Amino acid sequence: MLNNKTIVVGVTGGIAVYKACDVVSRLKKLGANIHVVMTKSATEFVSPMTFQTLSNNFVTVDMFEEVKTWEVEHIELAKKADAFLIVPATANFIGKLANGIADDMLTTTVMATTSQLIVAPAMNTNMYKNPIVQENIEKLKRHGCIFIDPTSGLLACGDTGAGKLETPEKIVASVEKFFEEKEAKRDLEGIKILVTAGPTIESIDPVRYLTNRSSGKMGYSIASEAVKRGASVILVSGKTDLEVPSGLDKYIQIESAEDLYEAIIKEYNACDVVIQSAAVADYKPKTYSDKKIKKSDGDMIIELSRNKDIAQELGKIKGDKILIGFAAETNDLLENAKRKISKKNLDFIVANDLTTEGAGFKSDTNIVKIINSAGEISEYPKLLKTEVADVILDSLLKIMDNKDK
Ligand code: PMT
Repeated sequence: MLNNKTIVVGVTGGIAVYKACDVVSRLKKLGANIHVVMTKSATEFVSPMTFQTLSNNFVTVDMFEEVKTWEVEHIELAKKADAFLIVPATANFIGKLANGIADDMLTTTVMATTSQLIVAPAMNTNMYKNPIVQENIEKLKRHGCIFIDPTSGLLACGDTGAGKLETPEKIVASVEKFFEEKEAKRDLEGIKILVTAGPTIESIDPVRYLTNRSSGKMGYSIASEAVKRGASVILVSGKTDLEVPSGLDKYIQIESAEDLYEAIIKEYNACDVVIQSAAVADYKPKTYSDKKIKKSDGDMIIELSRNKDIAQELGKIKGDKILIGFAAETNDLLENAKRKISKKNLDFIVANDLTTEGAGFKSDTNIVKIINSAGEISEYPKLLKTEVADVILDSLLKIMDNKDK
């Protein structure tokens, strides 16, 4: 059911507009409060009166039509929306949205909303496959839009292929799924989590450095899953090729282990939890040469000095914070992981064996064992790093629940 949910439905101009009537009717029957905004071209296919009758609310088309309330209408609608569904979405509308164009009632309202945008495209198959349209869709996905992909079949223009609006049943099911997922797991609301991710870089001279193989995927997955579950998240990351997850409280990019330490210490007091998945260099070159070191005929020895063990330092000033570490091992996984728990004063450690296929660095999956401070071990099969992130966050919640008892 969608009781108490306000959904703004944007209708753009294509033959599939008639199916949007069915979508509005179904959403209304599920208890949602629906406000329809149509583009001028959509009104060429179905009159606003149809949507007005189905939604039991005034339909808005024109920015400058006579006002029905004293509120600034597009802003008011944008604020009211719990979700914003565009059905059908034309190539033109998708293009405008992807490029920040707000030149009518619908595009200005969409631009002003902070609610989830759900877009159901419908268009000719060649238009849909056009790389420019696909690039626009990808761009919007990166900004967090949910797309309900069109199906394949005989299109109104006579062509056959992808571009047919998904059925009203499935569109409504996607909207329901969005609300279900949103409400199911807001179990980290009110918790401030600092996540570290990626590799550190220790410079030798202006062109050379020491680093490791961390891609950042594990840490970024933890950060984005924690955001989805309602946490306030600070991500402190070494250099990676990954897109910064949306919805973070703060993103801090660091280079060296020393930068990482300073960034954590600055934020530490305000955090409830620190999850340390960054692969931190234990050593750095003893001296940094500000000029490129010239090669000579013989071998070269670079002397290294010890970096701070950041996790151990945090362990010393733990207070009531929850500290979670990782153990990246190639041998004696459990013994090494257990030793790290007590040395670094951790609540639990996530141990991954770097020698196992599908675990550790770079892959989209990981195979982990979670070991708590009492030495209890939970083993997991090969999971996507996003799933491992959820397992870690579930373990965190268990610890928080036990603390409250
Ligand atoms: O980034 P990906 O490609 O997705 O790969 C994920 C990962 C393999 C990097 C990740 O799953 C992982 O294991 N991260 C920890 C890597 C590591 O440094 O492990 P460690 O066993 O050397 O260190 C133990 C813990 O102490 C870690 O939480 C580490 O962040 C911390 N540490 C280590 C050294 C140091 N000088 N300071 C630290 O705080």
